[in-house]
Amino acid sequence: MRSVAAAIRDALLASEPRAKVMATRAVARDWRLGRLDPRFDVAMPDEPGRPFSLELLPPGRMPKRGRAGSPRSRIALWHALAHIEFVAIDLALDMAGRFGGEMDAGFVGDFLDVAADEALHFALIDRHLRTMDSHYGALPAHGGLWDAAHATRHDVAARLAVVPMVLEARGLDVTPAMLERVRGLGDRAGTAILTRVLDDEIRHVATGVKHFVAQAGIAGLAPDSLWQALVKQHFGGQLKEPFNDSARRSAGLPRDWYASLVPLTASGIPAVSRGGGGKPTISTR
Ligand SMILES: [Fe+2]
Ligand SMILES: [Fe+2]
Repeated sequence: MRSVAAAIRDALLASEPRAKVMATRAVARDWRLGRLDPRFDVAMPDEPGRPFSLELLPPGRMPKRGRAGSPRSRIALWHALAHIEFVAIDLALDMAGRFGGEMDAGFVGDFLDVAADEALHFALIDRHLRTMDSHYGALPAHGGLWDAAHATRHDVAARLAVVPMVLEARGLDVTPAMLERVRGLGDRAGTAILTRVLDDEIRHVATGVKHFVAQAGIAGLAPDSLWQALVKQHFGGQLKEPFNDSARRSAGLPRDWYASLVPLTASGIPAVSRGGGGKPTISTR
């Protein structure tokens, strides 16, 4: 029987969107059906496959989106979302394939299910882009989204702390406003997609929290202070307001965990969030 690690590695290395989506859904399904051997006998690649046509740019060099509501800015928004979901497929696959050998079988299944969700999100968004005569790969994309994975490649607790609990949680914060904008433009298909994505992402953050808390328990550490220390060490330690407290709470992330990670001004009042620069997040700013 083929090893689960080999199947995950192949999905990570798939570069064309259709191939990655198909390989990801297949590995999640085969794992669920017991068709993959729970062996972690091959290493995960440092860099996953990306479409050959996709140009990756540093965050500061991303082109302007154009006037809000214009066809150009709509395409740019959905292209940025497609890229986030494409990278999210790889983040979930890498979580399962890189750390699965040291974790329980539930961990592998949970993150392969997340990967399959991300593949579906990507496919829905790419199909939406095609209704605008565009597609994933037609525009340049943010080159920094894999940095957090690279920075936490040696430590499952750090990876859980940063990827689901910072980056995906950030998605919960920014999606409602985006959803309202898309709804306001009369884009019903887009509204349905983002509603679905938001629901699924609450579950993804919850999956991360569950396994992180278990890791903290094994280490005999308090999960909140461990999380804060790992975020400081691997993510520069500063989170941006405003937070979607209710979605975060639904995902099992209480406000007192993250409120202290907001940068303070000299007066001791949390700084107003500003766009641009800083660490890449799973948002489209
Ligand atoms: Fe997603
Ligand atoms: Fe996700």
